[in-house]
Parts: sequence; structure tokens; C-alpha cells
Amino acid sequence: MDKLVVNGGSPLTGPLTVGGSKNTALPLMAATLLADGPSRITNVPDLRDVRTFSNVIRVAGPAVSFDAEANTLTIDASTVNHPVAPYDLVKKMRASFYMLGALIGRTGEAKVSLPGGCAWGPRPVDLHIEGMKEFGAEIELEEGYVIASAPGGRLTGGSFRLDPSSVGATINLLLGAVRAAGPSRIENAAMEPDVVAFGRALQDMGAQIDGLGTRTIEVQGVDTLSPISVRNTPDRIELGTFMLMAASAGAPGHPVEINRGTHEHLGQDFKNRLAETGVDVEYEDECVTVTRPDRIAPVSIETAPYPGFPTDLQAQWTVLLATTDGTATVTDTIYDDRFKHVPELQRLGVDISVNGNTATVEGGPPIKGAQVMSTDLRASVSLVMAGMIAEGTTHVLRVYHLDRGYEDLEGKLRRAGIDIWRDEYEELSDRDETEAREAA
Ligand code: UD1
Repeated sequence: MDKLVVNGGSPLTGPLTVGGSKNTALPLMAATLLADGPSRITNVPDLRDVRTFSNVIRVAGPAVSFDAEANTLTIDASTVNHPVAPYDLVKKMRASFYMLGALIGRTGEAKVSLPGGCAWGPRPVDLHIEGMKEFGAEIELEEGYVIASAPGGRLTGGSFRLDPSSVGATINLLLGAVRAAGPSRIENAAMEPDVVAFGRALQDMGAQIDGLGTRTIEVQGVDTLSPISVRNTPDRIELGTFMLMAASAGAPGHPVEINRGTHEHLGQDFKNRLAETGVDVEYEDECVTVTRPDRIAPVSIETAPYPGFPTDLQAQWTVLLATTDGTATVTDTIYDDRFKHVPELQRLGVDISVNGNTATVEGGPPIKGAQVMSTDLRASVSLVMAGMIAEGTTHVLRVYHLDRGYEDLEGKLRRAGIDIWRDEYEELSDRDETEAREAA
């Protein structure tokens, strides 16, 4: 298995370059299934999730080719003759559930595995299913699969309120609605930039959508959509991660440049909270410059849907708080128990405790290198970030979690001044470990 090894203490000097967005690429890929012909998506990051979703799409019939060097994906959805998303693939990545909307929108039927839980607890898909029913689908659950069909081959359209607001359900319902026979309305829709970029691509394909970027989205179904050529947006979470890395691992007073990001997609709350810490940030068109101050003030955050503080940046913020000289909290209102990184950060010496959905960090104690385990995508990048400012060497195991969402992270950080590399290691299975203990 792969691990990342970081020797702490070298400052992040930059520059860093932001790649294409994972969370926008995936729905864009799903959208291509709605048109009969070849579509092209550029600025697609070479990530494990993109490759997994390519395989999910191939199962349904389309031809997918990925030029990873050119970050260009071609999906020819001339043939969609097997409207199934199997468990083996869906269990690897929840966003595969977008196949529900894409397949029913294209063929009038879909058989999609339920995704199951994830590392930080249950993440239901009830809203996706209930919404699709309101839009005219008949749905049964059989042996872990959602079996959906549109009587007459096409959804009717309808009205559905999301409570809570959900990125994934908004995307799935849009995929279903754009080729429905009648109009649809999604209330309390997600306003995340990923949803807006995806909705704009659907419009470019010929979809009739109003209200993107607001809480109410209205759709007038159309008979056919055309293939597209679209450029994926920059990854806002990678940009935010790099900004927090610069704020905590940059040399005080030395600016770190981060290029090719879209800072408007971060949401105002993240920017405001970061300004309160005393970190100096300059925003230009596609360049963000971050300068670490001598002292970082402890600032508490609470995650919320866009334009609130992104839940995907809370683990990284926790590490920033460890570099302060005071106490502050991180509250996640979107996922109550997204704190799997906390025991690992404790192993690195961070003084942190969790109560309910709030983590309290007491800044001050030095972070010290150790062997730690990745548990999910954002948790793993927070461990790398802690390793960058730790005394000594940190080994971040099970880095396959990180490879789901960060393209060549170690290459980017190494070129920006960090002493980091990838290595292989043997991981004992639980059974091997028990046997080794018993033999000792
Ligand atoms: C997406 C992002 C993920 C991010 C999350 C929140 C992708 C591929 N993933 O995940 O990185 O952390 O948004 O910004 O874009 N919910 C229900 N029922 C449902 C669906 C959701 O109760 O049917 C709840 C969830 O448990 C959660 C909240 O709604 O509390 C928001 O989740 P949602 O926006 O759906 O997250 P994802 O789309 O899965």
C-alpha cells in the first residue's frame, strides 16, 4: 500500500497550482449520458474518483476515454443499453449514485446500488429517492438496489422540497428533470458552485433551467439534449486546502502564491474567518496570495451549506487552530460525526477534544511527527498538513483515501518547498496482526 512521508519544518514557499474540481467533474460526467453522442470535458483531474466513475459509466454502455496528460475526458454516450450501476463500484464512491438521475433521464429506467455508509457515519439518499418519486418514477428497493422506472419511458416532472438542502439530491433531481415530459421545481436546492457549473453545462446542452445559484430551481423538460464540450471549474476545496497550508506552513512574512483557483467559489464565510485569524490574503483574478503572520489568532468556525464555511475544509481548519496560542472550536452542522481525523491528530500531539459535533482545539503544544492513518479524503489531507508543520517525520498511511480527491499532492507540495514523498509499505491485515501478537 502507499503512504506519504513528510519531514516537517521546511516552509511552504509556493507557488501552487489548483487543478480541476472533483465535485464538479463527477456531475458533468453524469450529464453527458443525457445526450446521444460524444461529449468532451477538459480540466478533469486525474483522480481515483474520476477513474471509478468512468468505470461506472462504461458499465451502462458508453465509451469513456481519459487522456490524463491533457486532463481531457471523452464520453461517447451514443449507446446506453445497460442502465445498471453495480454495488462493487458504487460502494467505492457515493457520487456513483448520480447514475440514478442520469440513467432514468436517458432511458426511463435505472438499477442503482444503494451506496451504504461512509467513514464518518450514515449518509442517506432518502431525498434522492423521494424526489425522484415526486418527479414520476416508480421505485422499489430490492437486494440493496434502487430499481426505478418512468412509466411511459419518461418522468412526468413534479415539485420537491429538499430538507435539508443537499448537493447530491439537487444534482440527481436535475439529471432526472431536464428531459422529463413536464415542468419540475426543486425547493431549498443546493447553491454550491459545483451545482451551478453543472447546471450551466446542462443549459449548454439545451436544458431549460431557471434559478441556478438560488434556493428555487425550475426546469422545463425538453425532448432531447445535445452533446457538449465543456471546461471543468477549478477545485475550490483544493484552493481552500492550499490557502490553509500556506497560512500554517508558510514562512511568516513570505507570501505564497496559489494559481488557477476561483476564489469566489470559496464562499464569504471562509474568507471572513481566515481574515480574522490575521492571515493576510490578496485575491486577484485567478491568483490568491497568502502570507502567514507571526501570530495566528484562534478563530472558531461552524460549517454550513454554501456560501457558509465548507464542511470539506473543517479538518484542515482544525490543523490551523493547532498553530495558534489559544482555544477555538470547529462545529460541523452538516455531518455530526465527521471527526475521524481527531484521534490521529492527537497522536501527533494536538490538544483536541470532541463533544457532540464540536471539536475544541487548544493551540500551543508542538506537533510531533508520528505514524498516522488516513480514514477519509479530507481527514487524510489534514494529516499531511499537520506533518508539514510537525517536528520530525510523519507517515500518513492508507493514502488511497487522499488519491480520491487530490491530484499529485506530493508533487505539488515538493515543488513548493515541502520535503514529502510517496513510499510503499506492507499493511498487515487485522488477522495477521492478531497472529503476530499471539506468536510473540
Ligand atoms: C457533497 C460533496 C461532499 C460535501 C457535501 C456537503 C460531492 C461528490 N460531494 O456530498 O464533498 O462534503 O456535499 O457539502 O459533491 N442528506 C439527507 N438525505 C439525502 C441526502 C443528503 O439527509 O438524501 C443530508 C446529509 O446527511 C447531510 C446533508 O444532507 O447532512 C448534506 O449532504 P449532501 O449535500 O447531500 O452531500 P453530498 O452530495 O453527499
